[in-house]
Amino acid sequence: MSLKKRYRPLWVSLHWLMALLVFTTYGIGLSSLANHPNTDAKLVPLGLHMAIGIAILAIVVVRYILRILIFQPARRAESAGSIPAKKKLILLDRMTPYVHTLLYFFTALMALLGIAIALPANLFSIIWGRSGAALPADFYVYPARAWHGALSLVLMALIAQHVLVAIYHQFLRGENYLGRMWFGTPSPVAVPGKIDSAGEKNDRRSDDR
Ligand code: HEM
Ligand code: HEM
Repeated sequence: MSLKKRYRPLWVSLHWLMALLVFTTYGIGLSSLANHPNTDAKLVPLGLHMAIGIAILAIVVVRYILRILIFQPARRAESAGSIPAKKKLILLDRMTPYVHTLLYFFTALMALLGIAIALPANLFSIIWGRSGAALPADFYVYPARAWHGALSLVLMALIAQHVLVAIYHQFLRGENYLGRMWFGTPSPVAVPGKIDSAGEKNDRRSDDR
């Protein structure tokens, strides 16, 4: 079994599917839900937002369980001390392992808070069951609504860190960082235990994702 520097195709597919769905959910939430009156015109975008949000929850849970049980995440570097001076990680980068875990956590939390608005507001029967009842005049009577709005900003900040780190490695440091999360033939790694040109420790675990 050769050593690899890429995530497996299943992992890559789930990552980009989740990213696409999260961006779509934000798009609908910010453009068609927030600051719009609760009229019938909201039924379709809200129904879509809820469906995609619940799909995201399912993907995040499956992904996280698989990550713990099967695909141990590879560390890009074992510790700052093992990296040559010019490869020292910037603060933004040192946050990455924590941000990865928080991305899973806050994405799931956002979907759970959405469900915590939908249940007391009877949104499942109003929107999907076509009960004919009107939407509640204001979702803010449900405490989860304010949290859903506030935590959407926290998740946005985490995603911003994530994307900035990707831009930094890919374009400023000229590493094939995005290649780690893309399809293709895994590049064999020459010497296990050594730091490669992308500042990654060639650890056998990176084969097992
Ligand atoms: C344009 C947007 C995005 C880009 C360019 C991007 C890029 C990447 C790359 C290159 C990695 C691999 C990092 C590494 O191996 O060190 C990664 C991992 C990850 N991404 Fe993204 N990503 C994006 C959007 C998102 C979004 C929206 C989410 C979730 C809300 C997300 C969640 C994650 C997680 C949780 C990991 C860690 C995977 C693991 O080790 O299990 N990403 N991303
Ligand atoms: C990761 C998943 C989700 C994300 C990123 C997300 C994001 C958002 C955003 C950005 C808003 C607008 C917030 C604001 O500006 O104050 C919003 C509103 C809302 N979301 Fe979500 N959401 C997700 C999942 C869900 C789910 C699963 C449901 C229900 C089952 C849901 C129900 C709602 C409701 C009821 C609103 C309020 C709409 C309004 O005030 O008119 N969301 N969401």
